[in-house]
Amino acid sequence: MVATELLPPDGDGPARAGELLRSGALVAFPTETVYGLGADATQDEAVARIYEAKARPRFNPLIVHVPDLAAARRIAEFDDVAERLAAAFWPGPLTLVLPARAETVSALTRAGLETVAVRVPAHPVAQAVLRAAKRPLAAPSANPSGRVSPTEVAHVLAGLGGRISAVVEGGRCTVGVESTIVGLAGRPRLLRPGGLPAEEVEACLGRPLATHEGGIVAPGQIASHYAPRGRLRLDAARAEPGEVLLGFGLVEADLNLSRSGDLTEAAARLFGCLHELDRHGVERIAVSPIPERGLGRAINDRLRRAAAPRQA
Ligand code: TXA
Ligand code: MG
Repeated sequence: MVATELLPPDGDGPARAGELLRSGALVAFPTETVYGLGADATQDEAVARIYEAKARPRFNPLIVHVPDLAAARRIAEFDDVAERLAAAFWPGPLTLVLPARAETVSALTRAGLETVAVRVPAHPVAQAVLRAAKRPLAAPSANPSGRVSPTEVAHVLAGLGGRISAVVEGGRCTVGVESTIVGLAGRPRLLRPGGLPAEEVEACLGRPLATHEGGIVAPGQIASHYAPRGRLRLDAARAEPGEVLLGFGLVEADLNLSRSGDLTEAAARLFGCLHELDRHGVERIAVSPIPERGLGRAINDRLRRAAAPRQA
């Protein structure tokens, strides 16, 4: 156990976070998508601590966070398509998987792959932490493996308090689901739906994204991944006896992702609602149908995973 420091988003907070990160310690910080558990992506031991703290069962490649495009170009090779997407959507909730430049981030960060996932977050506190750290930061969501991603400081502390050196405060995450991941080593491919609607990426590229096929390296795909403790039943018109309804739109629901049927609001509230159901010890959760378009694709992806049969 370590005492987890709670750092302010301004004043000395980011500088203290930077110092801890350079020393190899773990620091959670807010991004516009979810809170990330940061480690210096150039130090294998620091990155190994991420797996230890999250009790993650296996090594997946991690997303490397940098403050701007210039820093991203130092760790990955950008072709015209990558430049176009970066110009359109960075900073923001888009991760690009690109050919890695040799020896810039540790092999463990990349899980030994020749490619690297890079993202420039828009959140001002994430930006301040990255600039103070002066290192690229590997940062998966700041939750124990297999649990719901954190969208506020209280979620981070509930899951990882005592296991990480510090958390930088930054209020509630506005996007609420992880970044959209697009693979650009080969034909542009949607590796994970997320906070940037895939349709916007396709409009920018002027052609549809391929979706993943069997065997693609997108380990966010472990079946049960974003799970609350309760069981979920999806596409439910109403709650059966013994169930609590997590609603969407104008339905009689115990908790509603968005009464007005707004997918952006629903994405932002998703993990918070699942945490709340956990806190109340709800065992059976029915979920209203969510349209499969825009952010609805990311929401349904997370819900389907949360509903998948549990791994031991
Ligand atoms: O919104 C987000 O992206 C959050 C916040 C904290 O920024 N971060 C996040 O990071 O979700 P992480 O490290 O958990 O995302 C890892 C996922 C992997 O599961 C995999 O799908 C994909 O990124 N990934 C990383 N490197 C890859 C690579 N070289 N090839 C294919 N997929 C890769
Ligand atoms: Mg996660």
